[in-house]
Amino acid sequence: MIIPVEWTDEAVKMLDQRLLPMEEKWLMLKSYTEVADAIRDMVVRGAPAIGVSAAYGIALGAKQFVGTSAADLEDELDYVCEVMGKTRPTAVNLFWAIDRMKRTFQQAKAEGKSVSEIKQILIQDAKDIHEEDIESQRLIAQFGGELLKDDSTVLTHCNAGALATGGVWGTALGVVRGAINQGKKVSVIADETRPYLQGARLTAWELLQDDIPVTLITDSMSGHIMNQGKIHAVVVGSDRIAANGDVANKIGTYMVAVMAKRHNIPFYVAAPLSTVDLNCPTGEQIPIEERNIREITHVQEIQIAPEGIAVSNYAFDVTPNDLVTAIITEKGVARAPYTKSLRRMFEE
Ligand code: MRU
Repeated sequence: MIIPVEWTDEAVKMLDQRLLPMEEKWLMLKSYTEVADAIRDMVVRGAPAIGVSAAYGIALGAKQFVGTSAADLEDELDYVCEVMGKTRPTAVNLFWAIDRMKRTFQQAKAEGKSVSEIKQILIQDAKDIHEEDIESQRLIAQFGGELLKDDSTVLTHCNAGALATGGVWGTALGVVRGAINQGKKVSVIADETRPYLQGARLTAWELLQDDIPVTLITDSMSGHIMNQGKIHAVVVGSDRIAANGDVANKIGTYMVAVMAKRHNIPFYVAAPLSTVDLNCPTGEQIPIEERNIREITHVQEIQIAPEGIAVSNYAFDVTPNDLVTAIITEKGVARAPYTKSLRRMFEE
């Protein structure tokens, strides 16, 4: 069972995903700035895992505050949240977790709690966010598992597994685990996911740990394999889903969705409601992270492109809602029109 981030009384413990699959190294992050750096530097990645980590980072910031006034703690927390909020722009789970921790602080302050009580309340809320995330993935696994047929092969992109969430299930890989738990035979095709190789390094590693059959392909092979009739469903996660069901996910997802449509293969998105941003009307408003061009010009430390070449490195793209067969959340399966079906899930 993989749980990539944990709270310990003196630190936030994180599996360093940059080193996988070659090395399994755990880091003890002893300050909120170390947690923020870990999110920015991809020690932890994947939208729900980023949200859980940010909540723990904020709890750590509160724990280490040395004053006795709630007003001073509020100033400190505002600053900690600002630092967290500048780590990665696309995954809305980060901002969702920051908002929730801020609301928890405001409620405790309004109730007249002491600074030491507020610290405990914030630590508990971060732990709750983590537990709720795992429970959401369990439900996504159950609902999503029902959509997969027996004896099917699923294509996934990037890593939307236990490593990318609070742990245990994952979103897209949770759907695979759910189907297997329901007695179905399911195998996975994982594409490499250039340039950061989350598919080759993380999805492949995670599925092998659980003895789930997985075949690795290059990103450019998926069309050919779909054309051979070897893929029965595509399941991916998401970093932010707009109110109309447009889906931001790892760069390359859009191309996979277009190819899935062309071959009449269902394209499912699995994500908790903390990934749905009703304040974003469409995918056009979703900020797309651009990362260091070295991720493209180099593989590990080896340079593979000419010095001085112009490079774009968009980390995410947006798949328009008409390519999305269904969105699987902890509240059930949403289908078009998403503006209605997603909103309804928040009202339940
Ligand atoms: O850049 P990353 O590795 O954080 O990107 C991760 C993804 O795009 C995942 O597919 C997404 O966060 C869903 S994770 C359950």
